[in-house]
Amino acid sequence: MAMLTIKDLQVYYGVIQAIKGISFEVNEGEVIALIGANGAGKTTILHTITGLVDAKEGSILFEGNDLTKIPAHKIVSLGMAHVPEGRRIFAELTVFENLKMGAYTRTDKKEIEDTIKKVYKRFPRLEERKSQIAGTLSGGEQQMLAMGRALMSHPRIILMDEPSMGLSPLFVSEIFDIIKEISESGTTVLLVEQNAKKALSIANRAYVLETGNIVLEGDAKELMNNDSVKKAYLGE
Ligand SMILES: Nc1ncnc2c1ncn2[C@@H]1O[C@H](COP(=O)(O)OP(=O)(O)OP(=O)(O)O)[C@@H](O)[C@H]1O
Ligand SMILES: [Mg+2]
Repeated sequence: MAMLTIKDLQVYYGVIQAIKGISFEVNEGEVIALIGANGAGKTTILHTITGLVDAKEGSILFEGNDLTKIPAHKIVSLGMAHVPEGRRIFAELTVFENLKMGAYTRTDKKEIEDTIKKVYKRFPRLEERKSQIAGTLSGGEQQMLAMGRALMSHPRIILMDEPSMGLSPLFVSEIFDIIKEISESGTTVLLVEQNAKKALSIANRAYVLETGNIVLEGDAKELMNNDSVKKAYLGE
């Protein structure tokens, strides 16, 4: 059975239907990319999975739990972390304090310290800046902090919403390398991206979303060679 199974999901904002009955799966160990243009519904899907937005119809099964019936604040403790669009770090707090906030579901102090050490190992820039006020970090550093904070809860799956948005090409490559490392260390990844080329290059499989519907799905390498994907999303 898949780790995460979304079935016949429909989501409305008032009378406007943002998600029009979509189904997809994420298997343990996979990197799954969700690609699509502005307004396609990518963020809405992540928000519905994490309980920030309610589903009108359908189910979201995560390791046997139907997330549509579980409040948002309990979902993190099931092993799911979310790196939101626009990072949403705590701008007034230091890097270190932000990381500690990511461990709010955990109580063992020693374990939290060990996890912070691991995060610093993965993101040496965060260690160098551990006392810096997070709002003064560069965009790329804030993205690293948002990812590090998500890792503090020891997630089995991590949902990332446009991690490369607004970053320079060099930082984009660094962020994608880190996503790959996170995946290789055993965390399943559901990745929302407008940078379809980069996303497909690290994903196992992908789903293409257009105005609330999945219009294409398949092996990431195959989608990279698909003519309509090339035209619409890869600029070729
Ligand atoms: N809180 C809201 N209230 C009303 N409509 C919303 C709300 N949030 C999103 N929408 C609408 O739902 C649709 C899907 O939006 P969503 O943010 O999920 O798209 P997206 O694929 O993440 O786009 P982007 O690439 O620009 O981030 C859009 O038409 C958007 O205007
Ligand atoms: Mg979005």
